[in-house]
Amino acid sequence: MSSPSDKPNLHLVNNDDTAQDRNDISAESAISQPILRIENVNRIVDVADEPLQILYDVCLQVAKGETLAIVGSSGSGKSTLLGLLAGLDLPTSGSIELAGEAISAMDEDARAFVRAQHVGFVFQSFQLLPNLTAVENVALPLEILGRQDAVALSKDILDRVGLSSRQTHYPNQLSGGEQQRVAIARAFVTQPAVLFADEPTGNLDKSTGDMVADLLFELNAEHDTTLILVTHDNQLAARCRRQVGMDSGRLSEKQAG
Ligand SMILES: Nc1ncnc2c1ncn2[C@@H]1O[C@H](COP(=O)(O)OP(=O)(O)OP(=O)(O)O)[C@@H](O)[C@H]1O
Ligand SMILES: [Mg+2]
Repeated sequence: MSSPSDKPNLHLVNNDDTAQDRNDISAESAISQPILRIENVNRIVDVADEPLQILYDVCLQVAKGETLAIVGSSGSGKSTLLGLLAGLDLPTSGSIELAGEAISAMDEDARAFVRAQHVGFVFQSFQLLPNLTAVENVALPLEILGRQDAVALSKDILDRVGLSSRQTHYPNQLSGGEQQRVAIARAFVTQPAVLFADEPTGNLDKSTGDMVADLLFELNAEHDTTLILVTHDNQLAARCRRQVGMDSGRLSEKQAG
């Protein structure tokens, strides 16, 4: 988890300076005001002193309120891409703009501030903090934002995911499915503009998975939350309005349905 910064270094994009460029790009696309826009993103890491390219020239625009599934085989680069889209990591080259902010040009403190304002993220491995109870885990992003009503709101959200009787449990006292629901509650407690979820139903039985999926799409409908999901679950992918496929680090549009 990122720690809050007293004086975040915003590096806000100057809309006037970039409006002309954006108009040029928008003309090519049906998306007039994307919540997320990435261009020619490459990600190269060093493994044993050898460069390994994980993503190749990925371009993507996502409209506000859209539901998007990223599908593809294991190791194709889906989680790597999700981490870049959410500002958790930086690309080796290319640009990423989230909610109008050029996050690929920001340092970690500035990206953490943008994430706190706009992003919810459900990790493939939950990443709950082990020394905090369920309600404390959920309340943390609100406390980072300085919200006085953090605990009350967090209790409401835990109630909504069916965990009102598990608020004071620590993560190691919760089942895998319960931990997943706490992670989802933590991701949406701030009502983020974009909710990223990496295999949100991957560890759940069918009925709990359906309940979690329903919750994600209710959020989309109620708050116009943009949903960006990575999933191997064809049924979940089919509930999204749009699907893109990742194949060996290259992204392509798939037919909806
Ligand atoms: N930091 C890193 N250093 C070296 N290799 C990495 C790193 N991160 C990812 N990789 C490699 O990049 C590839 C893509 O990884 P990624 O986790 O994005 O795949 P994925 O599509 O999410 O797979 P899965 O469906 O199994 O979760 C994998 O081959 C992985 O081993
Ligand atoms: Mg993954």
